[in-house]
Amino acid sequence: MSLQTPADFTEAVEAAATLLRAGELVVVPTETVYGLAANAFDPAAVSKIYTFKGRPSHNPIIVHVATADMIRECAGEWSEEAQRLARAFWPGPLTLVVPKSERVPMVVTAGGATVGLRWPSHAFMQALIRRCGFPLAAPSANPANQLSPTSADHVLHNLPGPVGLVVDGGPSNVGIESTVVDLCRNPAVILRPGMIHREALASVIPVLSPAAVEGTQRGCEAPLKSPGLLSKHYSPRAPLRLLRWRDGADLREQIDSEVRAGRRVQILCHSRIPAGFAPDQVSVIPHDAEAFARALYAELHQCDQTGVELIVVECPPDGPEWHGVQDRLTRASASSES
Ligand code: TXA
Ligand code: MG
Repeated sequence: MSLQTPADFTEAVEAAATLLRAGELVVVPTETVYGLAANAFDPAAVSKIYTFKGRPSHNPIIVHVATADMIRECAGEWSEEAQRLARAFWPGPLTLVVPKSERVPMVVTAGGATVGLRWPSHAFMQALIRRCGFPLAAPSANPANQLSPTSADHVLHNLPGPVGLVVDGGPSNVGIESTVVDLCRNPAVILRPGMIHREALASVIPVLSPAAVEGTQRGCEAPLKSPGLLSKHYSPRAPLRLLRWRDGADLREQIDSEVRAGRRVQILCHSRIPAGFAPDQVSVIPHDAEAFARALYAELHQCDQTGVELIVVECPPDGPEWHGVQDRLTRASASSES
């Protein structure tokens, strides 16, 4: 169902709410990526998400809320720090890991004592959650370990089975998954970088980057527990290489063996457009972090759908606003080598 007109919007909210109340799964647009939603308070419905995605049972699912009452229902404890981050960044692409309440079923949190909460900014998600009257558990709407969808078209191309309803809200505005912050540690820790970056968070509460924690914790405490930190995540089908080049000749030299082998190569660049490649082999992505994040997964899905055999991505610039994009690209390139 599309959301082109106000009547479409209302109809889609009603249809989705009816299915969710009946314990069915619905694919919903959010500002980050598309989600596969179920009633977070219905353990049988949430179990369907794991089966449908082929998601490992130890990987907890984010709970999406849209009212202050829902926060109170889901959080066992809501600290001053949580409140400050929520006030600064909600609704928006930020997930806060806090102690869970009794009300949140164990299947949502993969048996853990914490729950990841997010108040999305997408108008459809807000309207749907309020109409349902219960929060929605929703991971990204892709088969486990594959690329997250940022359009209804991506969802339909990759869905592993039939689903009650796919709501088409157009291209996702943020384009990569939310920043996940663990507030059950002191100081708080970024479990998954995103477009709400460390500096932005640090202007509100003290927060550590994942690298800082890995450095200080070696051998002392349990490793960070967020399966989204595993390297084999967020990857397109083709191997992905992050490269820097001076010019077209330099790039050609770096991928010489693939080019000679006749591999289909696609180049995603943002500042140095390499000469000597066919125009349709080169995609130019905007050179600012927000526009780059918005476009990135669509480019990678396009590579998947057209049978590209090697994806070359020009290394993104440094700077906090690029950390989310760097994180996804590094994972995609690491997993293609393992
Ligand atoms: O932007 C997003 O976060 C999207 C949209 C749909 O909201 N959702 C999303 O969900 O990316 P998913 O399941 O693909 O990724 C959620 C990440 C996983 O890495 C999961 O391990 C982590 O968040 N996570 C969820 N609950 C957690 C918890 N209680 N403790 C630690 N990590 C948690
Ligand atoms: Mg995911």
